[in-house]
Parts: sequence; structure tokens; C-alpha cells
Amino acid sequence: MTDAAALWKSLETLEFPTLAALFAASGRLDRYATTLDLPGGPIRFDWSKTHLHQAAETILGDLATAQGFAEKRRQLFDGEPVNNTEGRAAEHTAQRGIGAAASVVEAEALHERMKALVDAIHEGLLGDVKSLIHIGIGGSALGPALAIDALTRDGARVAVHVVSNIDGCALEAAFKLCDPATTMIALASKTFTTTETLTNAASALDWLRQGGVDDAYGRVIALTAAPEKAVEWGVDDTRVLPFAQSVGGRYSLWSSIGFPIALAIGFDGFAEFLAGAAAIDLHFLETPIERNIVVRAAFADLIYTQALGCQTRAVFAYDERLSLLPSYLQQLEMESNGKRVTTDGRPLGRPSAPVTWGGVGTDAQHAVFQLLHQGTHLIPVDFIAVKIPGHDLDPVHHQILLSNCFAQGAALMAGKASDDGARAYPGNRPSATMLAEDLNPATLGALIAFHEHRVFVSAALLGINPFDQFGVELGKAIAKQIDTGGGKGFDASTEALLAAAGFGE
Ligand code: F6P
Repeated sequence: MTDAAALWKSLETLEFPTLAALFAASGRLDRYATTLDLPGGPIRFDWSKTHLHQAAETILGDLATAQGFAEKRRQLFDGEPVNNTEGRAAEHTAQRGIGAAASVVEAEALHERMKALVDAIHEGLLGDVKSLIHIGIGGSALGPALAIDALTRDGARVAVHVVSNIDGCALEAAFKLCDPATTMIALASKTFTTTETLTNAASALDWLRQGGVDDAYGRVIALTAAPEKAVEWGVDDTRVLPFAQSVGGRYSLWSSIGFPIALAIGFDGFAEFLAGAAAIDLHFLETPIERNIVVRAAFADLIYTQALGCQTRAVFAYDERLSLLPSYLQQLEMESNGKRVTTDGRPLGRPSAPVTWGGVGTDAQHAVFQLLHQGTHLIPVDFIAVKIPGHDLDPVHHQILLSNCFAQGAALMAGKASDDGARAYPGNRPSATMLAEDLNPATLGALIAFHEHRVFVSAALLGINPFDQFGVELGKAIAKQIDTGGGKGFDASTEALLAAAGFGE
């Protein structure tokens, strides 16, 4: 047995005291709840209501050593090719100013180019621009959609409508909210080959032309790591905002993919977003494992997936402005760590990423929390809340929102005995809570960077590459085959479905 295999075995066979027993020991809160002073204001990271404890941390710390975690983290920040299957670095931190010197310099220069275009639009140099339709999918859409929804509740400098789905209903909905005469189109695609994005792009050009815009291409901005493809497609090269190949799609909102964020909140706000993330980068890079909040969160995640049989992890934003955070985190976790082989191509032989899901509190309480409290699954839950409300209504709204958030964590942990089985709550159910003072660009940046690195730590200990995503390719290839070759040559069920939908008629 390798060192790592023996350590995983020790974790699997380790005893995990109940949360109540863990809390009976003194000092638990001080040890597992940490408030970090960050550029956007403090964030409290409370992992005390998880089953983390010294013996588990010792094993996981040894696993980190056995799996070369510190070296892998160094390689990540130094811009070495940690994405081994694609022979690439993963340089999202360089976008935030922390990374290989040449990559940081390049990112700064590209941000300057982006700033110039943002400022030009704000100053009216590109005509009267009231709205932007941002077309992209996956990592080219989820980040901008989250950030813009979170940060522009009080209004945006330019209204941004993010469209991802190939279903024309999505694009049509955006058209209804925009006037072709005052709308620009951003085409966000790292590869500039994604069918959904290019198809939506062509329809957006048609819409502009039909709306009386003579130079429709003149309204298009491309955000891409393949600038030559964007130019070939027809975008003027002065309107192409490139970013480095070494920035992964689901890690790309810090690059020019963040253009719509900067357009909506201003470039200064975007710079604050980067600074918030950079503060977490430094914490992750420089803080010893025992006090490193990112490592701690990943250790808890590994306890649940590897030792306690949890197949899912839920995240609930107790803040309407963060409604899109669960779907953002879904891609981050599941596309990064949903893998079945290690970096050397051998079977992983253990669970990888938990299925990540979630929603918004208090809505989710009235829909899915029954299962969390009394179902047969053990599901670790993250709660994310913000102290300062995002609205001007009676403070009672926020008081009820936050009291519900904290009540859920308490109830999951404490449970409640009853002679009536249907009314009994087993308790001992884990949760972690992140409480930010304020939701602003820097806080959002910090929260996202925290999750990026959390996913990285799990991958490092599992020995998988979190930066590729070959799993999405097969379905895309078959869809293409169907589109180009009609509905034949598949299994009987698929052929019948295609025939029923009118393919090949
Ligand atoms: O199909 C998955 C994926 O490659 C994601 O990883 C990516 O974020 C998304 O598609 C969009 O890709 P692109 O930015 O190249 O259009």
C-alpha cells in the first residue's frame, strides 16, 4: 500500500465523534471559526459545526504531505503546467496579480486594454450604449451572470443581459429588453468554437441588422483566448479582448471574460473584485495548513466524501443577491473534480467531487430542507450570508433572513428527540457558515477565490487534475454527428427519439 492509500484507509476507519461531543471540548469555536479581514470587509468562516477534529486533521495533513500538496500549490502559483493532460498552466491567480511575473504583466496589459474599452463606452465614444447582450456559456457566462446579479441590484452603468442557452427563448427574452440602436453584443468564448455561442451570435447579428443597424459587426466585442478565430468570424481586431490560454474557462471571469462585469459596475469595481480574490490567494498561499481556511474547508469536504459516505454537498445563499452562486459553484466543483482517474491516468478508486447543489434561503427551507433534517442522506451544508442588507426595506426582513440562516445550522446540529419518530430530528448534521460583513465586489471576489482554491486542495489530495474537462466532449461530438448526419446510426432509443422529433424528415 502506498503512503496515501494507507492514510485514506486510516481516514475511512477513523471514529468521528458527534458534533455535540466535539463541542463539549473547550476551544472548538476559536479553533474552527476564523474571521479574516479582507478588502471588502471581514468574512467569518465558521467550520465548527463540521466533524473536523484533530485526529482527522492529522491524517489529512499527512495526506497533504504524501500527495505533495505544498509543491502542487507552488506549481499552481508559479505558472507551471499543473493541467498536465493539456500541458498547460492554470493561471487565474495571475489575473489577480499573483503568479509568474510574465503572466502577471501580461494580465495587467490585457486588463488595461479592457479598461480602455470599458471607459470608452462609458464616455459615449462608441455612441449611445444602454445595454449589452453578453453571449457565452458555462465558464464564459456563469461568472459574469453571478457578479452582475450580485453587484448591480441598485442599477448598472450599462444594463447587461447574459444569454447562454442555445434555446432561442433565451436570446429572444434579451432582445425584448433591448433596443438594437443602443445595444452592443459581447461574444465570450475561450475557444471561439462553441456551437451555442456562435449560433446565438449569428442570431444577434441578424437582430441588429433587422433593427436597422448597418454595421452590425461594429457592435460586437469578442472576449476570447483565440483572437484569430474571433477576427476570422468577423469581429474587428480592435474589438477583441484576448486572455491567456492558461486561464481555464471556469476560472476566467477574472480575465477579459469579466468585461461585462466591468461595464456594469465600472472598472474600479472590477479592480476591487480582483483585489478581494488576491487577498484570499495570499491567505491560501502563505498561511500554515492548521490555520488556512481554504485547506480547512477542503479537509472537511474530504471527510464527508471519503470517510462518511456523503455523495452530495449543498450550498444555500441566504442573500437574494447571491442566488446564482450555487450554479456557479456547481460548475466549479463538478467540472473540476468530477473525474474518475488520477493525473497519471490510473483509476481514482474512490469518490471524487460531491454532487454540488443548493439554492437560496429562506426559499429552500420551504422546499428541500425536510430531507436535510430528517432524510436518510447525510448532506454537509454551506450557508452564506451577509450582515448588511442589500435593500432599504424594514430591517425586519434581514433580521428574519439571518435568524433563519443561523437557526438551520443550529437545528441540523442539535436535532430534537421525540417519542414520535416522524417528529424526531436526529441532529449531528454538519454545516459551515460564511458570514460576510458586506456584499461588494471585493467580498464577492474573495468568496469565489476561496471556493476555487478549496476545489484545488481536494484535487491535490485526491491526485486528480482539476483543470481539464474531457467529460463534456463525447456528448458534444454526438450532437454534431446528429446535426450533420441526420438521425441514423445510433441506438434504437435515440433513433426513435430523433425520428419523433422530426430529424431526417
Ligand atoms: O463544454 C464545457 C466548456 O468547455 C466549459 O469548460 C466552458 O466554460 C464552456 O464549455 C464554454 O467554452 P468556451 O468559453 O470555449 O465557449
